[in-house]
Amino acid sequence: MHGIKVLLKELPNIQEYLVEGKTVIEIGSTRDIGSTFHLAKLCGEKKMNLITIDPSKDSYNSALEVLSQFNNSNLHAVNDTGEGFLKGYVKNDICLAYLDGFDIITTHPHAQSTIDSYKSVGIDLLKDGNRLSAEVHLDATKSIYKNIKTKGVLCFDDTWEENGKWMGKGATAVPYLLEKGGELISSPSKKWWKKRKFNHGVLIAVNK
Ligand SMILES: C[S@@+](CC[C@H](N)C(=O)[O-])C[C@H]1O[C@@H](n2cnc3c(N)ncnc32)[C@H](O)[C@@H]1O
Repeated sequence: MHGIKVLLKELPNIQEYLVEGKTVIEIGSTRDIGSTFHLAKLCGEKKMNLITIDPSKDSYNSALEVLSQFNNSNLHAVNDTGEGFLKGYVKNDICLAYLDGFDIITTHPHAQSTIDSYKSVGIDLLKDGNRLSAEVHLDATKSIYKNIKTKGVLCFDDTWEENGKWMGKGATAVPYLLEKGGELISSPSKKWWKKRKFNHGVLIAVNK
């Protein structure tokens, strides 16, 4: 199950975190699964703000197109890296974050256009992807954590636990949050998945 589906499934259990006027952050805008649409809809229903962030012009343009369907001035797309944009974010108003940015390498092959898009900014995705992905998701997580005033939820896509070690996009961000007292809301898969029955995502609640 993709991370956004895990998040939608867990919505009944995180209602107390979804507060009117607060902000939802998405790292990695809509590309193939349509997460931005689901988050925009949720933000409309709960009167929350959305900021979806992606350095790729294509994903940014897709996000703009999705958001334009909602006629809601509280929904924003930003063309930047998640970690770069969030470094200067000091509003202290984040209640939910969906982290599905910098791609990882698995048995599921990437489109050549994805590999080329990283190459165009000097990144060898196949060689350095997994290490860099964990690094930038940790960076973004630290900024998100700082901007949670009292309580918030972070959902990581492409993150699982193998032999007691966290893997994927949240490989270092999840242990960081757990050390800060974060609590798992959903149970992670115990290995990389070949079938859709495995959870691709994991949810962590932060209570300060
Ligand atoms: C798996 S896709 C996101 C899919 C999207 N969430 C959906 O459901 O359709 C990963 C996205 O992360 C973006 N990305 C790469 N590096 C990033 C970074 N440093 N910060 C934020 N997004 C990044 C890529 O451009 C790509 O659009």
